Amino acid sequence: MFAQAVSTLRRSRSTRYVAAAVSAIFVVSTLYYVQVPHSGEYLPHWSDSVPTQDQASSSSDYLWDTRAAQVKQAFRHAYGGYKRYASGYDELRPLSNTPVNNFNGWNVSMYDSLDTMILMGLWDEFADALPVVQHGDFRTMRNTPGQGPWTRSQYAPFFETAIRYLGGLLSAYALSGESILLDRASDLAALLEPAFNTQSGLPRFGVNTNTTATTAALSGIFAEVASCQLEWTYAAHATGNKSHYDRASRVISTLADAMEERQGGMFPTHWHLSNGLPTSESRSVGAAADSGHEYLLKQYLLTGKTDIENLEMYLLSMNEVLTRLLYITPERGLLYVTETSGKAFTASHNFEHLACFFPGLLALGAHTLDLTLADIDPSRLNPEARRQYELLSKYDLKSLHMAAAEGLATSCWLMYADQPSGLGPEVVAMAHDTHVGGKVADRQGKLWIEAVEEWRKGGKHGPLPGLGEKKPIMYTRPEKSTIAGGPWDYVVRRTEYFLRPETIESIYIMWRTTENPVWRERGWAIFEAIERETKTASGYASLKKVTQSPGLQMDDQPSYFLAETLKYLYLLFKNEDLVPLDKWVFNTEAHPLPVFTWSDWQKHKFGIPR
Ligand SMILES: *[C@@H]1O[C@H](CO)[C@@H](O)[C@H](O)[C@H]1NC(C)=O
Ligand SMILES: *[C@@H]1O[C@H](CO)[C@@H](O)[C@H](O)[C@H]1NC(C)=O
Ligand SMILES: *[C@@H]1O[C@H](CO)[C@@H](O)[C@H](O)[C@H]1NC(C)=O
Repeated sequence: MFAQAVSTLRRSRSTRYVAAAVSAIFVVSTLYYVQVPHSGEYLPHWSDSVPTQDQASSSSDYLWDTRAAQVKQAFRHAYGGYKRYASGYDELRPLSNTPVNNFNGWNVSMYDSLDTMILMGLWDEFADALPVVQHGDFRTMRNTPGQGPWTRSQYAPFFETAIRYLGGLLSAYALSGESILLDRASDLAALLEPAFNTQSGLPRFGVNTNTTATTAALSGIFAEVASCQLEWTYAAHATGNKSHYDRASRVISTLADAMEERQGGMFPTHWHLSNGLPTSESRSVGAAADSGHEYLLKQYLLTGKTDIENLEMYLLSMNEVLTRLLYITPERGLLYVTETSGKAFTASHNFEHLACFFPGLLALGAHTLDLTLADIDPSRLNPEARRQYELLSKYDLKSLHMAAAEGLATSCWLMYADQPSGLGPEVVAMAHDTHVGGKVADRQGKLWIEAVEEWRKGGKHGPLPGLGEKKPIMYTRPEKSTIAGGPWDYVVRRTEYFLRPETIESIYIMWRTTENPVWRERGWAIFEAIERETKTASGYASLKKVTQSPGLQMDDQPSYFLAETLKYLYLLFKNEDLVPLDKWVFNTEAHPLPVFTWSDWQKHKFGIPR
């Protein structure tokens, strides 16, 4: 691990910050820090109308601003339908024009949309929402029975409530400086805090915000137990409330202790909430795990790159993902990330839409970090983690992360571009053995790192495996086909498109980090497909089948479509960089929080050693 941090076996807050002080190279400017608490004016001005062609610096800028304006129109349409038919409820059903309560009945679409309204300059919608926020009652549950796994219970799902409602409030506060939003965020954080009453400090699944009762289960999944640090840390910074700080700090220490115990590698998917350790050896960056990995990097970035333990955990995790979870298909050379089970890392070869946030995470890390193994002391790693370390030490790590990001983002885009609807399926099964001349060859799926090693040893000719030009191939496989061969190299396992953001999110980060306009064009094609296939009279509908056009619609418009999908599309097309990646960190629901450093008085109050 980090050479500076090896003096004690069990890491403490104090060692962590001593280490941070030694290696803190990046410090956010004082000027910026001072602006943060009321940072509404920090953002560039908003313009409600599309600039005329003369005003835009070039016709290309004009085109993209026009496209951004179309996304804003799409948001108006989706939110307008919600307000008309589902005001006072969580989500709109965009085919039947009826409301549904599936996230506590607290108007989740409105809370999730606040910061999108601000970024788009939709001030009337924002002004209408504020009084509702001010008087909102977070103690009474109003779920529609039978709508989702938890809606029968009297428990607010901790993770979903934190990322959507709390994240939404905190971000809207940071962007507007409107103090009502912070007050309500702090109230909600306090109501959710009973969930943290476990021996490890990892949160439970659900909490009754009226009675403080919590769900009994002491098992949890990585995404849900390790994706609250950003929200509680920023809440602590913005309010000065030590209780909020302690909750986030405890989760981080528990994770750091687990990493210490495991001596490297990535965190598995299933956890025990008492001992704060994993209970399985299942590994994934998709469903049930995704944002847990995301928050390791983002917590480090949010706190102005001072929180060294999170950087350490991120680096060790990525070493394993890069060497154990990335595969490449035999014909098209599609790079994909899959899930594995057991200590033998047995791969499922499924590639999930949910995992398509991951190229964006890698690109963000490559863009913001030094990314070197030089600071890690390999003698502290277990043999497998040391093998990964040695394998990767032959490469320039930053370039390798960026190459993986590009290859994966390309595959995520192709999953859309191949489909007749132009929209990507929920899960595909990737070819990991190949059909040669009608016979199944016994060629097994190839680990990407092995292909990269062959490329390196062969003198690095041609593009790195997984990169190079790739073209869409219209997907026309028969419905029941299960064998993932053919020109596509995959078979669609789950045909739905739930209006999810992950691919757009990665495309946006690829655009910002590479400035290659191809990402914007790909994003535009996806937006056109959304307009063509999913638009209804009152909003936008999830699709049952992406393998046909017109796609078969479902009666469902998730709040994250407003919070994430449309926000990332808008930011992708907008010429102005409204949310610079070195100044803001998106939570896992796409709510941007401002990068900060702790002030001296906060260090004193919270007990953060200098
Ligand atoms: C949700 O909206 C309804 C109708 O405006 C309002 O009565 C209720 O207080 C709101 N709840 C929350 C938590 O904002
Ligand atoms: C909150 O719980 C108390 C009992 O602990 C109950 O009397 C009250 O009606 C509950 N309030 C709501 C809004 O559910
Ligand atoms: C700080 O947070 C705790 C728990 O979340 C809450 O009980 C307390 O009232 C808050 N303190 C202030 C001053 O708001």
